[in-house]
Amino acid sequence: MLRTKDLLDLESCTSAELLSILDTGTAFRRVMDRPIPKVPVLRGRTIANLFFENSTRTRISFELAEKRLNADVVNFSASGSSLAKGETLKDTVDNILAMKVDLIVIRHGQSGAPHYLAERIPAGVVNAGDGMHEHPTQGLLDMMTMRQKLGSLDGKRVTIVGDISHSRVARSNIWGLTKLGAQVTVCGPPPLIPMEIEAMGCTVETNLEKAVRDADCINVLRIQLERQENNLFPGNREYARAYRVEDKVIAECRSHCFVMHPGPMNRDVEISSSVADGDRQVILDQVSNGVAVRMAVLYLLSGGAPESLGDTIA
Ligand code: CP
Repeated sequence: MLRTKDLLDLESCTSAELLSILDTGTAFRRVMDRPIPKVPVLRGRTIANLFFENSTRTRISFELAEKRLNADVVNFSASGSSLAKGETLKDTVDNILAMKVDLIVIRHGQSGAPHYLAERIPAGVVNAGDGMHEHPTQGLLDMMTMRQKLGSLDGKRVTIVGDISHSRVARSNIWGLTKLGAQVTVCGPPPLIPMEIEAMGCTVETNLEKAVRDADCINVLRIQLERQENNLFPGNREYARAYRVEDKVIAECRSHCFVMHPGPMNRDVEISSSVADGDRQVILDQVSNGVAVRMAVLYLLSGGAPESLGDTIA
């Protein structure tokens, strides 16, 4: 059970809530390996997925999670909707809720859009990524993947490499990982690292080799070409020369250190194809875990109790 009707960010989650979601996600991950990977715990519930921004992984992952819990699912895309006729976000959502929808999953380009909705509607809201603010279920699936590889995250060293300034994935990782005791280092060109970032509990290292030397895990972020409003770095080639995670970088890391990427990747910009396809990466494990952790979030927000799950999925 979570304290609120919504999952808007990891900043406001307690460590107990994070562990509850991750443990429940681990139980659902086992269900996914069964011949029939479904548990009918949300039968009779209806969930609307509202995507106002492009998505491949998150959108499909939420829909699969909902269907594997036997919820009824409706999908909404901004393109082709009546938003183009001037309807507001709140009016759009009120109309969808009038059709008896229980839970809203929303991705939006504006930071704070899920919070705005959550304060104004009785239904639960799940943030599927808002602007440059947070992407809480990505943070959770990343932590679930790290726990599979490392066990407890307490004291583990995680280095996040890339465009920290524009990254909602970085923010959710930093909040979630530090609450569970991990030591987080962020690394990237100085213009792509926000001034206030150390106040979140992480350290900054702008030299890639130093940043990854003692890491247990490297989480490589996408260079967000669409958000580089002020030419914050000279270009892809210059970025890659200093910050691409490639074989010679990995060769200097600890032998158990593994590489993650939330996708979509800019191959051979922030990560070399040899690393992206190599034996140190767990990128598709992250995607699989995303379905399980989203099943956990939807189950817990719908009033499900972790302790009663054992009987349900036994
Ligand atoms: N990681 C992630 O959010 O990917 P999508 O944009 O494809 O959903």
